[in-house]
Amino acid sequence: MNENEILNNARKVIDSSKCKVCPVCNGAVCGGMIPGMGGIGTGAAFRNNYEAWTKRNLVMSVLHDANDPDCSLNIFGQEISLPVMIAPIGDIASQINGGLSIAQYTRAVIDNCMAAQTFASIGDLIGFEPFKSAIDQIKGRAHRVLPFIKTWDDEEFFRKLEIVKEAGCRVVGTDVDSAGLTGLRKSPVHVSVWDERKLKSIVHRVHGFQMKYIVKGIMSLEDAQRAVDCGADAILVSNHGGRVLDFTQGSADVLEKIADKFSKHAEILVDGGIRTGADVLKALALGAKMCLICRPAAISVHGDQLNGLKIYFENIRQELLHAMRMTGCRNLESVSKKVIV
Ligand SMILES: Cc1cc2nc3c(=O)[nH]c(=O)nc-3n(C[C@H](O)[C@H](O)[C@H](O)COP(=O)(O)O)c2cc1C
Repeated sequence: MNENEILNNARKVIDSSKCKVCPVCNGAVCGGMIPGMGGIGTGAAFRNNYEAWTKRNLVMSVLHDANDPDCSLNIFGQEISLPVMIAPIGDIASQINGGLSIAQYTRAVIDNCMAAQTFASIGDLIGFEPFKSAIDQIKGRAHRVLPFIKTWDDEEFFRKLEIVKEAGCRVVGTDVDSAGLTGLRKSPVHVSVWDERKLKSIVHRVHGFQMKYIVKGIMSLEDAQRAVDCGADAILVSNHGGRVLDFTQGSADVLEKIADKFSKHAEILVDGGIRTGADVLKALALGAKMCLICRPAAISVHGDQLNGLKIYFENIRQELLHAMRMTGCRNLESVSKKVIV
C-alpha cells in the first residue's frame, strides 16, 4: 500500500466530525475540534506549529561527499535508526472514532515502530484499566516504549508509574501541560499544574526506579530551567499539538533558545506540526536530538494497522536522507545551524 492508499483507507474508518484526514495535516479546518484531532479554540496554536516549520528554509550545499547519509543515533541508551518517533495519544478511540481500541492501537504502534527501528510511545487517559490495557501490549519490548503519564494526583500517578516500571520501561515521561485538557481537569481524578517541589519529588521517584524522565510540554526558557533544576533527563518542547492553550507560539519558534541553553544538561526533543523529513532536519538544526509526530502518524495506523506507520516512517526517512544529502550532512552529528535560514 502506498501513502495515498493508506490515507484513503483512513478516511473510510475515521469519523469526519473528528478529523477530516486532510492531504496536509496543518490545522486549517479543525480549530475547536476536540474531542477529535483539532486544536483548542480557534486552532491558532496548531496552525502556528505547522507554519513555524514552513517559514524556515534549508541552505542547499552539493559540493561535498555526503552521498550516503546516515540518520541513526544513540539516545536513552538505545541505538535507533531514525531521529523520529510517534508522539503519545491517550484516548484514541473517542478522539478519532476509528474503530481501534486503545489496546489494538497500541499493539499496532509498537509492532510498526519496532519494524521501523525507532521508539513507540503510549499516551494516558482517564482511568487505570484503559492505561493498563495499553501497557499490556508492551510484552518484552519495553526498551523501545516510552509511556507518558499525566499530572494526576499522587495515588493515580504512582499506580500508573508502578505498572510502567513492572513492564520494564527504561524511560517514562509526563505531559506537564495536561492541565490544559479541560475535560481531564474537571474529571473526579483530575490533572493539575505541578510546582517545582512536586516535579522534583516525581523525578526522584522515577530515578529511584532506575528510569529516565522526560518532561513534555515545555514552551519557555523559564519552564526549561525548572525542569532541568528538578533533574529531568529530557525536555520535550511541545504545546501538546496546540490542544491545551490557544495562541501559543509554534514549537519551532522556541526550540532554538531552549536547545542553546539546555542541550548540555538534558536531551532536547520537539513536536508539533512536523510533517516532512525536511522539517525533521530543520528541527535537528535548531538543536533537537529527536522529533515526535502525532496526528499523521496516528492516521497512518488507522489506514493500515499492519504496515501503515512503518510505511509512513520510511517516507519520512527517505525525505530526511534526501535533505541531508542536499545540505551536506553526512550524519546527525554533522547537522548544525549552518543548514537552516
Ligand atoms: C488526539 C490527540 C491525543 C493526544 N493525547 C496525548 C496524550 O495522551 N499524552 C501526551 O503527552 N500527548 C498527547 N497528545 C499530544 C501529542 O503527543 C503531541 O504532543 C502533538 O499532537 C504533536 O503535534 P502534531 O500532532 O502536530 O504532530 C495528543 C494529541 C492528539 C492530537
